Amino acid sequence: MLFFGTGKGGDKSGKEKLTLKDVAELIWKKECQRIVVMVGAGLSTPSGIPDFRSPGSGLYSNLQQYNIPYPEAIFELHYFFHNPKPFFMLSKELYPGNYRPNYAHYFLRLLFDKGLLLRLYTQNIDGLERVAGIPPDKLVEAHGTFATATCTVCRRSYPGEDFRGDVMAEKIPKCPVCTGIVKPDIVFFGEELPHRFFLHVTDFPMADLLFIIGTSLEVEPFASLAGAVRSSVPRVLINRDLVGPFAYQPQQNDVAELGDVISGVERVVEFLGWKEELQELIKKEKEKLDAKDK
Ligand code: OAD
Ligand code: ZN
Repeated sequence: MLFFGTGKGGDKSGKEKLTLKDVAELIWKKECQRIVVMVGAGLSTPSGIPDFRSPGSGLYSNLQQYNIPYPEAIFELHYFFHNPKPFFMLSKELYPGNYRPNYAHYFLRLLFDKGLLLRLYTQNIDGLERVAGIPPDKLVEAHGTFATATCTVCRRSYPGEDFRGDVMAEKIPKCPVCTGIVKPDIVFFGEELPHRFFLHVTDFPMADLLFIIGTSLEVEPFASLAGAVRSSVPRVLINRDLVGPFAYQPQQNDVAELGDVISGVERVVEFLGWKEELQELIKKEKEKLDAKDK
């Protein structure tokens, strides 16, 4: 993956704009039934996981303790082979099990339950989409996952769980066969995205609605997917600030719901009339997770 800078600017055209309520109506009337969703770290900040680029609270502003030369080094192979410790300290924090899905994750689960989710493209490596009950075949974990890990020397693949003990004990996981360092299958800068990412070739042209939630759209190739739906397809951004094409090249069918992710999703849910159903789902799922934790 690569960075690109978002050029801010671009004025409104003055034409009649689609609203969030209009979009809810399209879903409600089943005029949109192949919804693609793109998400980033802002989806999980309400679960207590910091994002990357928010000034002050973002991970990239808080990496002093890892003693790395610059923030992105934590996801660079070159640096990893020089010193894998910072990445494994971060892994200890993010390893599945420490955090729970929030309201917005369960909204996406409800889209799936209703047969409306064509695919969820996530940049997150916290695994919370799976925990929320969205099946792996509906997911594209574009920046990888801790669910599996690969030996950096012999390329053998292992379940991520095999190394949980090492990561928690702050030991660098080693391959039982060749003793090479085992790296969780998180996509580092310069690495290829998982094969599943190429599903976008068919998903995006098929989509009839695109939600983009909690991402700065600063990392390629993920960011460009925002421009891969047909031009007539409504795109809804739920985010604290305007990002990507919503900032520099807004389209007539773009809806930007700016502010907190949860409040934005709550508004959609309200317009859809799904409030009670979603609450019920969250309650059931919470009970399941509580039982597991016991
Ligand atoms: P960023 O930190 O770049 O962007 C998060 C976006 O979510 C920002 O626009 C925030 O303003 C917004 N945001 C955060 N919390 C929010 C909240 N509660 N309500 C509303 N908006 C909120 O995170 P990503 O776009 O996911 O790579 O970053 C992309 C990639 O960069 C990551 O996948 C990561 C990093 O390098 C890897 O992990 C390999
Ligand atoms: Zn090996």
